[in-house]
Amino acid sequence: YSVTANSRIVVVTAGVRQQEGESRLNLVQRNVNIFKHIVPLIVKYSPNCIIIVVSNPVDVLTYVTWKLSGLPKHRVIGSGTNLDSARFRFLMAEKLGIHPSSFNGWILGEHGDTSVPVWSGTNVAGVNLQTLNPEIGTENDEENWSETHKMVVDSAYEVIRLKGYTNWAIGLSVADLTESLIRNMNRIHPVSTMVQGMYGISDAVYLSLPCVLNSGGVASVVNMTLTEDEVSQLQESASTLWDIQKDLQDV
Ligand SMILES: NC(=O)c1ccc[n+]([C@@H]2O[C@H](COP(=O)([O-])OP(=O)(O)OC[C@H]3O[C@@H](n4cnc5c(N)ncnc54)[C@H](O)[C@@H]3O)[C@@H](O)[C@H]2O)c1
Repeated sequence: YSVTANSRIVVVTAGVRQQEGESRLNLVQRNVNIFKHIVPLIVKYSPNCIIIVVSNPVDVLTYVTWKLSGLPKHRVIGSGTNLDSARFRFLMAEKLGIHPSSFNGWILGEHGDTSVPVWSGTNVAGVNLQTLNPEIGTENDEENWSETHKMVVDSAYEVIRLKGYTNWAIGLSVADLTESLIRNMNRIHPVSTMVQGMYGISDAVYLSLPCVLNSGGVASVVNMTLTEDEVSQLQESASTLWDIQKDLQDV
């Protein structure tokens, strides 16, 4: 740990990884026990750092890191749905026949099975996809866009099934986050942040919302306009996570 002293950013990827078919949430107590050892030492050597948590289940472990570290919430971030959103943009843009950087869309909430695709905010050059197709993402959608979100959720399981672990996409995603922090860019990323008090969520949970990132960490959280259905999906993510967090030992 002494060689990491005075780091500005610490990226935590330590932990036991998902086994084939294992849900991220099953991993949790095994990784909490590891974090009880790691986090106090990180903060001891780099008291002014920003911590980015990558280990899964990332939202719960970001909360655990925040609790164990004693750092202010804006300096503890989970890689969250930055990766899910990148995969979403790629797959949506592929289906539309455009470059991913020209498609605007966000996945918020839990990184994983209950992530929330914000269909109401999907647009190309300002043209809102939900206005063109009011059923987008629903069971009645003749264009079957929900399949694209399903592919995002399944992609980590698919890569793990094929090669046993995931590394390239998450590596690029975290490099993207560190660039915004180090270069003080005020870029907006969907990352896991403390959401208590937002969107009617009363529990102390970390979930991904669009965050402005600069050299101080999370400078602010964008209060994105969401439909009632999207808000209730976020609330469901929050209560799924709280159900697990409330039973964690020694946090
Ligand atoms: N958030 C995401 O999108 C995302 C993507 C990929 C992987 N992950 C997660 O990242 C984590 C690592 O995945 P991986 O494939 O690199 O696994 P891995 O098994 O290859 O690496 C884990 C590392 O943690 C180290 N470690 C274990 N206990 C430790 C301790 N007490 N102190 C210090 N180091 C310790 C191990 O030595 C190992 O090098 C997993 O939790 C995985 O689920 C998250």
